[in-house]
Amino acid sequence: MSTTDTIAIVRRVPDSIGSCELTHVDRTPIDLANAHRQHQHYVETLSALGCEIITLPPLHDHPDSVFVEDPAFVLDEIAFIARSGAESRRGEAETVADALAAHRRCHRIEAPACIDGGDVLLLGRTLYVGLSSRTNAEAHRQLRDVLEPMGYEVRSVPLHECLHLKTGATAIADDAVLFNPAWVPADVFEGLRRVECHPDEPFSGNVVRVGSTLVADSAWERTNRRLVDFGCDIAEVHLGELTKAEGSVTCSSIVFRRVD
Ligand code: GLY
Repeated sequence: MSTTDTIAIVRRVPDSIGSCELTHVDRTPIDLANAHRQHQHYVETLSALGCEIITLPPLHDHPDSVFVEDPAFVLDEIAFIARSGAESRRGEAETVADALAAHRRCHRIEAPACIDGGDVLLLGRTLYVGLSSRTNAEAHRQLRDVLEPMGYEVRSVPLHECLHLKTGATAIADDAVLFNPAWVPADVFEGLRRVECHPDEPFSGNVVRVGSTLVADSAWERTNRRLVDFGCDIAEVHLGELTKAEGSVTCSSIVFRRVD
């Protein structure tokens, strides 16, 4: 995939991020100015890798709105507008849907289903979908109804102690995954090439693929070394302030292929 064919949707850090949802981490103060600097460098990195950047309007009343990956997820044929399992996050979806409508047919996940984009991981024609506090079995059912006729398999993934599937597992190639086996069961990824996170860096199973490059957080030195040894090209950023908000490199953008 040429990176000039790649779009990245982002949204700036809201002033209210200190009141974000937290599920598995304790609250610590977030330095807003530093969060903006780190986020700006992240966006510049995506741009330097060839992404066309679409910046959504800030949503200061939605403390988690910088985590733009959760309100939607995009396949080549279709985009899904999510319905978050966190009520406080449901107002984030509309501006994401507006931006995606120019690029994909959009399908809405409907109540009683709930899902966050952070629970959705695509490898080839298999959609791995976490069962989490944000994503329920009814959402898996609705996805199967839409995607199986299109030739996708939807595979449910039980999670342990992590917010989203992509907190603990992300694609590093079409047939390879980086994952934390303490949070995501290894047998889910049977048949794929696998790289395990370094056990001292449990939050490191989280990278964004842009073309043949992985955008990775520089905080996770030991896991990043494993990725380089595996043959991956890495572009490092640091989103330490957003890590305090239980966020990461994947949830801060929606990266997808231009097909229009
Ligand atoms: N703070 C990220 C989330 O809970 O969605």
